[in-house]
Amino acid sequence: MIQAIRGAKDILPDSIALWQFAEKVFRKISTKYGYSEFRTPIFEKTEVFSRSIGEQTDIVNKEMYTFNDRAGESITLRPEMTAAIVRSAIQNSLLAQNPLLKVWYFGPFFRYERPQKGRLRQFHQFGSECIGSPYPESDAENILLADGVIKSLGIGSYKLLLNTLGNDAVRANYRNALIDFLKSKSESLSGDSQIRLESNPLRVLDSKDPADKAALEGAPVILDFLDDESRIHFDSVKSILSSAGIEFSIDPKLVRGLDYYCHTVFEFQSDALGAQDSFGGGGRYNTLFSQLGGKDVPAVGFAMGVERLLLILEETKCIPDLQVNPEIFIVTGSDKCIEAAIVLSRRLRKNGYYVVSDLHRRSMKAQFRDANKLGVKYCVIIGEDELAKGAYQLKNMNTGEQKELSADDLISLFAK
Ligand code: HAM
Repeated sequence: MIQAIRGAKDILPDSIALWQFAEKVFRKISTKYGYSEFRTPIFEKTEVFSRSIGEQTDIVNKEMYTFNDRAGESITLRPEMTAAIVRSAIQNSLLAQNPLLKVWYFGPFFRYERPQKGRLRQFHQFGSECIGSPYPESDAENILLADGVIKSLGIGSYKLLLNTLGNDAVRANYRNALIDFLKSKSESLSGDSQIRLESNPLRVLDSKDPADKAALEGAPVILDFLDDESRIHFDSVKSILSSAGIEFSIDPKLVRGLDYYCHTVFEFQSDALGAQDSFGGGGRYNTLFSQLGGKDVPAVGFAMGVERLLLILEETKCIPDLQVNPEIFIVTGSDKCIEAAIVLSRRLRKNGYYVVSDLHRRSMKAQFRDANKLGVKYCVIIGEDELAKGAYQLKNMNTGEQKELSADDLISLFAK
């Protein structure tokens, strides 16, 4: 038997209603906030991601699906959307006409990670990007949009962690202070963190390794390094969120796994998820456009893992009842009646009804059993007698009441 690729999951027909429900929520809430859907190709030139996410990040270093195509060009299956949207916005001069671009997206992404609960190699993200505004209200708007989606999906309890990485100067000062602090302890750091101390010291902060956590006791905190610009921006984001009634906590160790962030960073966490407790995150990225060859354009955005959102609904037993039952079952008395059943079904569907009939040529008894199981409201019975007369029996499955009607009368009765 050929199996699917490890970490890639089928979305089977019996769970598709939940996915469609989630997609509907993404579209509805994003539209209410004035965001338009954005779709980019599933693959990009590798440099789109390597130049933006950061050469020293886990994503670029270890997790990208990268291959040479037949012309020898290095191609990568997208591990995230932000860089692809920036590439497209520059290529299509999307900011030339309108200085603000507000977009959302939903689709598959690819990272070569070790699969476990809530961690896949092909997973889906819903996200949004607000491109063009340097102001804290756009950071807050993105968090409010995310909150709107989470709540509309039916997730009641989650944590929002907030931090600021400040502007470039703040980060440079803090980086030096952190290196100075950790240098004396570098022997006790995990192997990964020893490497990061050289290449990407802020990432040591979000290591889950107990040795690293111990070494970080008493480490300098970025919030103590903020200049006026960075502090005012952060205070303003916090103030808007508080006024909007959004609960959050400040986590000065929150740095996130992508290098393009500055100022506000945030993450959504749920206890229902276990080890992979983060189900979404984002932040501001003011230098990504220039890194990818465009002019300086400030932007902010987030993405949420759709599998993780659905897992929270499942774990907290909050999956909504999404079952839609057929309304009418056409029961046929013999094979001779099948054509008439198909023609009648088509007319009823044109009137807007959800109509099914038997495709196994089974007995009427078996068909009624099916109709009951499906919970239909009406059965239309077409027997050979009815066929000869051009009239059908309509049975109300709730009351058991049955009456004979011509095809046209039946269609007008079901004219919605
Ligand atoms: P990220 O934190 O790398 O951010 O991913 C966002 C979310 O995608 C994660 O919180 C998680 O729920 C989900 N996710 C990531 N990897 C996996 C995986 N292997 N399996 C299942 N779910 C996963 C970004 O991607 C940024 N582009 C977010 C952003 C948008 N920042 C600014 N704009």
